[in-house]
Amino acid sequence: MKKLGILTSGGDAPGMNAAIRAVVKAANYNDIDVMGIEGGYQGLIEGRIKPLTSKLVENIADRGGTILKTSRSPEFMEEAGRKKALKVLKTFGIDSLIVIGGDGSLKGAQKLHELGINVIGLPGTIDNDLTYTDYSIGFDTTLNTILECIGKIKDTDYSHDKTTIVEVMGRYCGDLALHCALAGGGEIISTPEKKLNFDTICSKLSSRINSGKKDNLVIVTEYMYDLAELQRYIEEKLNMSVRTTVLGFIQRGGNPSAFDRILASQMGVTAVELLINGSSGLTVGIKDNKMIQRKLENINDEKNDRQDKYRFLEPLLH
Ligand code: F6P
Repeated sequence: MKKLGILTSGGDAPGMNAAIRAVVKAANYNDIDVMGIEGGYQGLIEGRIKPLTSKLVENIADRGGTILKTSRSPEFMEEAGRKKALKVLKTFGIDSLIVIGGDGSLKGAQKLHELGINVIGLPGTIDNDLTYTDYSIGFDTTLNTILECIGKIKDTDYSHDKTTIVEVMGRYCGDLALHCALAGGGEIISTPEKKLNFDTICSKLSSRINSGKKDNLVIVTEYMYDLAELQRYIEEKLNMSVRTTVLGFIQRGGNPSAFDRILASQMGVTAVELLINGSSGLTVGIKDNKMIQRKLENINDEKNDRQDKYRFLEPLLH
């Protein structure tokens, strides 16, 4: 390996900085120079590249966001954009690349691998929507942020015997909502994998209220419902007042949890090891507590056992 480039792409995720730190430190430890590419694939196309050293990545492991900044680049989705990116990599003498991002970003990494760059991916997304890995960098921190916010909503709901609909992120994956409910944050949950219709939500709610639980949280994954419509429906059907809170971008920021920092650090070192050993076209993950690698082209082909976790909800939420 001559020179290693690193970029973060797509939505930022807490722990991306810990991954950057691990990559730079592991590369420098092996006498490999690293170039930081700013602003994801768009920054790569524009040549926004500067050296990164171990010294420059001290004190970043605990910071949220990404020091490299990130973007979603429509230009890189086109072949012409990718060819520009390739040219820039050649100009800077970068022959190997580590991409930290979610689904779309890792698909972009595969395209660069096909163009002859040595590429390794790291899963960086709060959504946890990549099926090949048990956890992605950022998921744990976001889950904890959601639980903290929900705790505050619970206080006021309890005081007023109130029901609140809370929308959480996750794109089209219900992992954040599911894990939130497993952790005791919510009475009724609806996710893309187990979507409840309005009437089912109302009947679950009414049986909880009838059994004496007057404050209730309905946790839903984003993009599933018109929330105003859902709120109105419950209010009219159960003749009660309901509130709605969309947690929004508060979920993406904040200091990464210890779990995310450790995960990101292990993944970063593994990615450098893979490149040193001559691998490319792979992405690092964690399965059963062990670092694993999968082909970038297969990131969402694997069946995972997350669906099994729904069975725990039945007794917990009855
Ligand atoms: O993928 C991370 C994520 O925060 C999703 O949960 C959310 O749907 C999306 O990004 C929001 O994207 P943007 O930052 O482009 O609005």
